[in-house]
Amino acid sequence: MKCLITGASSGIGRDMARIFSNMGYQVIMVSSNKERLEKASKDICNSRIFVADLSNQNDTDMLCDFILKEKPNVVVNNAGFGAFGFYDEIDVSLEMDMINVNVTSVHKITRTCLEYMEGVRDAYILNVASSAGFMPGGPMLSTYYATKSFVRSYTLGIYKELRKRNKSINISVLCPGPVNTNFNNVAGGSFSVKGLSSEFVSKYAIKKLFKKKVVIVPGFTMRLGLFFSRFVSIRFLLDIVFSIQHKKR
Ligand SMILES: NC(=O)c1ccc[n+]([C@@H]2O[C@H](COP(=O)([O-])OP(=O)(O)OC[C@H]3O[C@@H](n4cnc5c(N)ncnc54)[C@H](OP(=O)(O)O)[C@@H]3O)[C@@H](O)[C@H]2O)c1
Repeated sequence: MKCLITGASSGIGRDMARIFSNMGYQVIMVSSNKERLEKASKDICNSRIFVADLSNQNDTDMLCDFILKEKPNVVVNNAGFGAFGFYDEIDVSLEMDMINVNVTSVHKITRTCLEYMEGVRDAYILNVASSAGFMPGGPMLSTYYATKSFVRSYTLGIYKELRKRNKSINISVLCPGPVNTNFNNVAGGSFSVKGLSSEFVSKYAIKKLFKKKVVIVPGFTMRLGLFFSRFVSIRFLLDIVFSIQHKKR
């Protein structure tokens, strides 16, 4: 059994790599930084690394070719990052990189998996979105929220198409709330609410993935919050998101 995880040099991706390795999987760990990947993979048995900067289309295409050759039966599209701030405070090229990593690479890698996974035993794709993907918008993290809405929506659409055509490929979307990882350091903020541990989120996600749960939301409080968010107005939700995100600065 073989598993490939993007964004495996840190946080959720690294913890998932450890769990899959403990389950007996060969693990391929992907990120843009060779040094960080080598460090992260050191204590993970049966692991290999693949360096690809997913903000770069050529690297993403190279990774897709590699995936077609390796044919892992589990692929986790986890690499991603955000950037806090008002829209005119964030560098446009950084936002384009974010869209390439969080959206374009997820789309391309998912399409690649759908191409070869038919007929592969126990084939699973796990796309990592966020609870942000349920919100109508994400003031102070607008581009990030929009990318995660894409991941959630795209994954659910593909899920339905696969079921309607009786395909054996499983696809799920992970939508965590705040998780204690390197995310905030990269995004330039800090959580105003307590985050879950990355180990808990990774373990929970893998358990639910194998139970074929399509939308995976770790943590009871977050599930409750998302349930009640259905009953409030868009304006009110945007106010809440703004006040939460603004406090992170
Ligand atoms: N932490 C949270 O609160 C939270 C909540 C909801 C969803 N998420 C999502 O969870 C996923 C994992 O994030 P995390 O919280 O574990 O943060 P993290 O510790 O910062 O890990 C992010 C991973 O993405 C990789 N990455 C970033 N840019 C990349 C690029 N250009 N090419 C390839 N890999 C790249 C990083 O590797 P390199 O820097 O080494 O390339 C790193 O391994 C992300 O998609 C994030 O949006 C996080």
